[in-house]
Amino acid sequence: MAVLVTGGAGYIGSHTCIELLKAGEDIVVIDNFYNSKPKAIEMIKEITGRDFAFYENDCCDRQALDRIFSENFIEEVIHFAGYKAVGESCLNPLMYYNNNINATLALLDTMNKYGCRRFVFSSSATVYGIPKKVPVTEKMPLSSINPYGSTKLMIENMCRELYTSDDRWSIVLLRYFNPIGAHESGKIGEDPNGIPNNLMPLILRAATGKMATLTVFGNDYPTPDGTCIRDYIHVVDLALGHLAAINYARKNTGCPAFNLGTGKGYSVLDIINTFEKVNKVKVPYVIGARRPGDAAECYSNPTLAKKELGWKAERGLEQMCADSWNFIKNN
Ligand code: WQD
Repeated sequence: MAVLVTGGAGYIGSHTCIELLKAGEDIVVIDNFYNSKPKAIEMIKEITGRDFAFYENDCCDRQALDRIFSENFIEEVIHFAGYKAVGESCLNPLMYYNNNINATLALLDTMNKYGCRRFVFSSSATVYGIPKKVPVTEKMPLSSINPYGSTKLMIENMCRELYTSDDRWSIVLLRYFNPIGAHESGKIGEDPNGIPNNLMPLILRAATGKMATLTVFGNDYPTPDGTCIRDYIHVVDLALGHLAAINYARKNTGCPAFNLGTGKGYSVLDIINTFEKVNKVKVPYVIGARRPGDAAECYSNPTLAKKELGWKAERGLEQMCADSWNFIKNN
């Protein structure tokens, strides 16, 4: 019996594989290395001392999925595989719809064929659009403000309608806020292919000199220091949220959604200042224009996940900054 982890070589996927293996679960991983590297698979095995079946395939490949389910007894699926760059999705929406939606359809069809109906989906706070108020709860209106967010919302709706049609499904939708940080070993971390989009990988590039300066996208927002506020969560806390979701799915049917955040909001300058203080390095930055589509504030109310999943983020911002830097220093 195993948990299939799609995108298991990726940033959140690899950290989740480690926590699953540490908890004694057997896993199977599929990844096409579009936004990850084979080294992550080796590091997962090295960190945990455990082996697992790995398939270098694309989740849109139905034959590959059929082979995985026929060669392994898959009881649950955690689905990370998908394109996730907001900016790229605006430039190439069809690529995002084709990949993210078709991969999920292929996966759900194959799961159904093999009678595997426990599904944990990597959703995102982006399904809240630009929240009208904070902290954000799961009951707040859903909308999409970019093609990446549209794929997340479409998949959530597919899951809700699938459960309505067949109540044997146990689906858990996990809405991530802003994952940062890295495993304490420094052996795995956020290591995207190509040019990063998110704040922390860009802070790391500026701190290491790989990039001359970081641009802070606007300091004229209605926030205490004028920069945008987000809910940054340690990637290991996020990974542990997936274990809690698997255990929930083993005991419940349904299609609930849960915010995976800390419930605390930090500004861009808070992140930069904490990173500099904790790691004793400078992050050269300039204040630039606002980035279209950014909300002034977006942070979670994570109490439902605590109540239903028994999960709560434990790691603070200083550890997130220290672990991020430790990963870069080691690689
Ligand atoms: C955070 C803050 C920027 C880069 C997105 C997706 C979300 C999830 C996380 C996938 C913002 C500011 C950033 C820079 C900056 N992704 N910033 N200079 O936009 O909150 O969320 O990534 O699941 O779905 O929407 O994260 O890291 O891009 O930005 O000032 O060079 O950092 O303006 O305020 P975001 P982010």
